[in-house]
Amino acid sequence: MPHDQALGENPVASLAAGGCRLRLPRPEGYAAGMGGDVGTAGSGVPRVGIIGGGQLARMTAQAAIGLGVGLRVMAERPDDGAATVVPADRLDIGAPGDESALRRFLAGNDVTTFDHELVDVAVLSRLAAEGHAFLPRPATMALGQDKRRQREVLSRLGLPCPPSAPVERLADAVAFGDRHGWPGILKASRGGYDGRGVWVVDDAAAASVLVPDLLAAGVPLLIEELVALDREVATLVARRPSGQVVAYPVVETVQREGICRRIIAPERVDAGLAVRLVGWSHHLAEEIDLVGIMAVEWFVAGDEALVNEIAVRTHNSGHYTIEGSVTSQFAQHLRAILDWPLGETALTAPVVVTVNVLGAAGVTTPLAARMPAALAVPGVHVHLYGKTPRPGRKLGHVTALGTDVDEVSARAQMAADALAGACEAGWNGQDGIEHG
Ligand SMILES: Nc1ncnc2c1ncn2[C@@H]1O[C@H](COP(=O)(O)OP(=O)(O)OP(=O)(O)O)[C@@H](O)[C@H]1O
Ligand SMILES: [Mg+2]
Repeated sequence: MPHDQALGENPVASLAAGGCRLRLPRPEGYAAGMGGDVGTAGSGVPRVGIIGGGQLARMTAQAAIGLGVGLRVMAERPDDGAATVVPADRLDIGAPGDESALRRFLAGNDVTTFDHELVDVAVLSRLAAEGHAFLPRPATMALGQDKRRQREVLSRLGLPCPPSAPVERLADAVAFGDRHGWPGILKASRGGYDGRGVWVVDDAAAASVLVPDLLAAGVPLLIEELVALDREVATLVARRPSGQVVAYPVVETVQREGICRRIIAPERVDAGLAVRLVGWSHHLAEEIDLVGIMAVEWFVAGDEALVNEIAVRTHNSGHYTIEGSVTSQFAQHLRAILDWPLGETALTAPVVVTVNVLGAAGVTTPLAARMPAALAVPGVHVHLYGKTPRPGRKLGHVTALGTDVDEVSARAQMAADALAGACEAGWNGQDGIEHG
C-alpha cells in the first residue's frame, strides 16, 4: 500500500488536481536571490553538499545524477566510497571536526546535508546562525546522534521505547539492572554503529568490569532492558519543509551480532500494527520538524512495538528502495531537502529482499574477481561501496525482487555470498538464511 496515500491529503497532488500553478516555497535558511549559482550549470538547482563520503553519500551521488543535482562531497579520505565517484571539483577532503575545512566546503553549497551523524552540533548551530543552511537542521542532527536524547524526546512524545536510564556512574547501571532485571543492554549514547557500542551485561559484576573503563574513556552511556523481541522492523518517512510527508512500507530487518544482514519488504506484521508504526513515524517527523528522510528502528515483541533508535538520514534498512520502490530513499532525501514534491513510495514488486555483503576473514581474491559469480544469479542488483574489504565491514549489498519471499531471499543471499567469498572463506553462506 502506498502509505503516503493512507496518511491524508498530499498537498502537491491536491494543488495539481485543482489546476493551480505550483509555487513551491524555498526551504527555510535559503539565501534570498539564490539560484544563479547552480548545482548543474544552468539548471537553477541549489548546490547540495554532503558531509561524509561513505556509501550513503556514494548512493546519494548516484541519485543526484538523475535529478540534475551536482552533489558536492566532503570526505575524510580521497579513497572514501563517495570520494571516488564525484568529479574533483565537487570533492573536498577534510574532517567535519576541522572548522576551517568545513567552512571552505560550506562556501560552495547552498544547502548541506549529512552522510553520518559524527558532527559537532554546536559548530553547526553557530554556522547556521551565520546563514549556512543545514538540512536536516542542527537540532534534528542533535537528536539523531544521541540515543539518550532520543529516549527523552521519544518518551515525551508518547512513543513506546524500552525502559532505559542514563549511566553517569557504575551505580546507575547496577541500580537499573537490579530494578529491571539482568542482563541489561549497555550502549554508547553516541558514535556507535553496526552494534559497535552495544554490550550485553549479564550482572552487576559484569557491569563493574565494563562501565568504569568506558566512562573513563569518555563514552556517554545508557542502559536499557534486554527486549525479548520476536523480530525487528523499520519504518522510513520523508518530510519536506512545506510539510508534505511520505512513508514507505514497514520492512523487516534481520540482524546478527548487532549487524543488519537482510531487509525484507514488505514486513509481514499485522496490518493494524503496520498502520500504527507508520502513523507514529509520521507524527514523530512532524514533531521534530524533520526535513529529509528518517528511519525508525523498532523491536516487535508480541503485539507491542518499541522504538530502538532513529536515524535522520538515509539508512541501511532503505537500501532496497533503489530498485524496490518507485522512489529510492536517496532521491527522496534530495527531493525533501530541496523542497521538491516527494515521490511515490510503493514497492515495485510484491517482495523485495536486500542482503548486505560483509567482509569475511580468510578471503583474499579481489571483489571484482567474485563479481561474475554474483552476477550469474538471475535478476540481482549489486551495489558495491568501493571499500577495502575487512572482516565484518559492509562492502555492498544485493537486492532481488519477485513474488515468493523464500525464493527472492535465496537469490539475493546466493549473490551476496558469492561476493563475500563464502566458498573461499570455507563457510556455507546459505546458512545465513536459516539463522538470520
Ligand atoms: N534493548 C535491546 N534488547 C534486545 N536487543 C537489542 C537491544 N538493543 C539493541 N539490540 C540489538 O542490537 C542491535 C544493534 O543495536 P543498536 O541499533 O542500538 O546499535 P547501533 O550500533 O546503533 O546499530 P546500527 O547498526 O543500526 O547503527 C539491534 O538491532 C538489536 O538487534
Ligand atoms: Mg540500530
